[in-house]
Amino acid sequence: MKTEERTFVAIKPDGVKRGLIGKILERFEDKGFKIVGMKLLQVTPELAAKHYEEHQGKPFYNRLIHYITSGPIVAMVVEGYEAIESVRHIVGATDPMKADVGTIRADFAQVMEYNIIHASDSPVSAQREISLYFKPEEIYDNWQSMLELITYNEERYDG
Ligand code: PPS
Repeated sequence: MKTEERTFVAIKPDGVKRGLIGKILERFEDKGFKIVGMKLLQVTPELAAKHYEEHQGKPFYNRLIHYITSGPIVAMVVEGYEAIESVRHIVGATDPMKADVGTIRADFAQVMEYNIIHASDSPVSAQREISLYFKPEEIYDNWQSMLELITYNEERYDG
């Protein structure tokens, strides 16, 4: 039995500036994931430091903070079966040069410094990142996606 999960996804400033919000969102919608939270926001240095606290002290830390605060991001909560692993699969490897063709990073990015998108890497990170960016009342899951409606109707009418 697969599990329904929520994960945190952010289209980073270069994705927003390059006008790729729609194309990136499409990947998740096409897969059938349900977007239960979404907003455009400017990440402050304080929020960036909390988000990337585990990377403090690493050689790339300052660049990472500068990058994520360099313009607005689109923050999302994405829901679906095995969403954490499945979304990471769609996003591709951290280094766009090593990401599989067909993944977002392989298709839209060239270098690690500008890898266009972030996705939580574990259930603990997902929970932490969702609560950093979203208040509980900013998550809307009291609606049925088409996929859920179809499943519901199939169960209801076809037994
Ligand atoms: S690590 O060292 O394995 O924990 O790092 P990793 O998980 O691969 O990456 C963590 C985030 O840091 C970004 N990153 C970099 N940014 C700029 N320059 C360099 N060299 C670099 N290396 C890693 C990487 O994109 C990750 O960002 P997120 O937003 O989590 O994808």
